[in-house]
Amino acid sequence: MNKVPDIFILTGAGISAESGLATFRAQNGLWNNHKVEDVASVEGFAKDPDYVRAFYNGLKPEVQKAEPNAAHLCLAKLEKLWKGNVNIITQNVDTLHEKAGSKNVWHIHGRIDEALCLSCGYVLNTWQDVNAQTLCPHCQTKGNFKPNIVFFGENLQYMDTVERLLRTADLFISIGTSGVVYPAAGFVQTAKYYGARTLEFNLETTSNNFYFDKHITGKCTETLPPFITELLG
Ligand code: OAD
Repeated sequence: MNKVPDIFILTGAGISAESGLATFRAQNGLWNNHKVEDVASVEGFAKDPDYVRAFYNGLKPEVQKAEPNAAHLCLAKLEKLWKGNVNIITQNVDTLHEKAGSKNVWHIHGRIDEALCLSCGYVLNTWQDVNAQTLCPHCQTKGNFKPNIVFFGENLQYMDTVERLLRTADLFISIGTSGVVYPAAGFVQTAKYYGARTLEFNLETTSNNFYFDKHITGKCTETLPPFITELLG
């Protein structure tokens, strides 16, 4: 009997764009209005933690109220109905996959609704502001929280799991990511090396085109649902 394919789904900011959340590298994107080194680097946080915490506090309300779109929802349906394994590896710090109902979600770049106590490692889950007054409920240290977002200069989260899933994936699907930030940008190469069929859903063909077997261009809310319906037969 043929094995049911295991599916590895890599998502980026483009999947949440139609839920109203800004991507990073578009003309009006986050990184055109802010310096990455100020708000998303280890050095930037060491220099001015209050500024960095305020930046992420400022993003929280709109992320919290955003709703999943048709692309998030059809991935949740896929996970529910597919007989093989479906895992979503997301670079997004929003929680729209969870809101859509997906369970196997790995936030390799962290989550905006979490803060990490640098004194004891406790992860606080909150949509409230985190600032210099925030008390760690675990070690009682005040004001030593960092947004639980992976900054440039830090390791990605869940890499053991990701590497295992890349080795066993039969189908690799990339959705709404520019493919310029490593190591996530290199996942397609690894998956292909281990034998997965590789597909890209994006508004445009990205610079990673070499490693994709097929590109499906267009808005993912329009291109993904019919593809998932067909996959589910
Ligand atoms: P980018 O802003 O770099 O890329 C977004 C991609 O989504 C682009 O390739 C767009 O063409 C595509 N896109 C936009 N709208 C789309 C739509 N409706 N349907 C399909 N595709 C669409 O965002 P990421 O690739 O996610 O890291 O960026 C990777 C990382 O860079 C982020 O996780 C972030 C940033 O530094 C951290 O903050 C740690």
